[in-house]
Amino acid sequence: MKKIGILHGQERTFPQAFVERVNSKNVEGIHAEPVRIDKVMQGVATDYAVIIDRISQDVPFYRAYLKNAAICGTAVINNPFWWSADEKFFNNCLATKINVPVPKTVILPSRDLPTDTSENSFANLAYPLDWENIFKYIGFPAYMKPFAGGGWKNVYKLNSVEDFFDKHAETGQLVMLLQEEIVFDEYYRCYCIGGKYVRIMPYEPRNPHHLRYVASFSPSPERLQQMEEIVLRINKYLGYDFNTVELALRDGVPYAIDFCNPAPDADRNSVGEENFAWVVETAANYAIEKALTYVEGKDNLTWGEYIKRGANKEPLF
Ligand SMILES: Nc1ncnc2c1ncn2[C@@H]1O[C@H](COP(=O)(O)OP(=O)(O)O)[C@@H](O)[C@H]1O
Ligand SMILES: [Mg+2]
Repeated sequence: MKKIGILHGQERTFPQAFVERVNSKNVEGIHAEPVRIDKVMQGVATDYAVIIDRISQDVPFYRAYLKNAAICGTAVINNPFWWSADEKFFNNCLATKINVPVPKTVILPSRDLPTDTSENSFANLAYPLDWENIFKYIGFPAYMKPFAGGGWKNVYKLNSVEDFFDKHAETGQLVMLLQEEIVFDEYYRCYCIGGKYVRIMPYEPRNPHHLRYVASFSPSPERLQQMEEIVLRINKYLGYDFNTVELALRDGVPYAIDFCNPAPDADRNSVGEENFAWVVETAANYAIEKALTYVEGKDNLTWGEYIKRGANKEPLF
């Protein structure tokens, strides 16, 4: 029996539907259930061939559990090592090297000193920073958001230098990105599962939350193909099995805005019935695929092109 587990937090629609869908397929030797942990011992394998991780970003204990599971052979979706290394600024840096258009972006040191540091800890930072050139590069309006974050938390739209300093003063120890605004004609949120299944969802972020997925953009087949190609390239390089990419279309160019979402919102009530059905079905099929190809005791993780090419000293692109 190869078990598929799902590790989740407060979610109450996707995990349950996922487990039911896998089991309803009656694939011989495959069974899905919510992960159950009652002890974690170093170097000891879990019962799971596959685990879908929806929550370790918020629970460091789970992240450590998953790394141990992975080294003992579990195919963890997504790779917990890469997820630990990744953040939004690096994603943008990578995008610039693999021909994916992204808004001009800089990263800023946190406004307040990190806990357990003092001003003496920062001999390497120039005070003040070169604000003039930073603002010249980014322009206004601009977006400011945490370099590692999600759920639209602490995302600011800024109209001027004064506005920037006002809002940056509120951000405490958060490390923020400052980013060119992409004034878009259309916007898409794209699921990518297994590095190969893509669902491009018209999305209107300017609508209230419950109406964001009722956008009426209808992209041409060429546009869809172009966006799909970008989504696949991003996920192939990052090595995510499960991720969403947000694309903002400006003058026919899809800019990648937010593509570090390894536990993307999949709630029935936010994504809507049709998208929900696709995610449940596709995640179930992919988890079964991973379980069927799972080899006991071997590394069954997905690794991205960035890591693979780096380890092999091959050109990145
Ligand atoms: N550079 C940008 N240009 C235009 N809109 C942006 C930009 N950055 C963020 N936004 C808007 O803010 C929203 C939230 O930002 P996002 O980067 O997706 O953060 P989160 O990870 O919190 O979802 C996006 O869905 C988009 O509508
Ligand atoms: Mg987003």
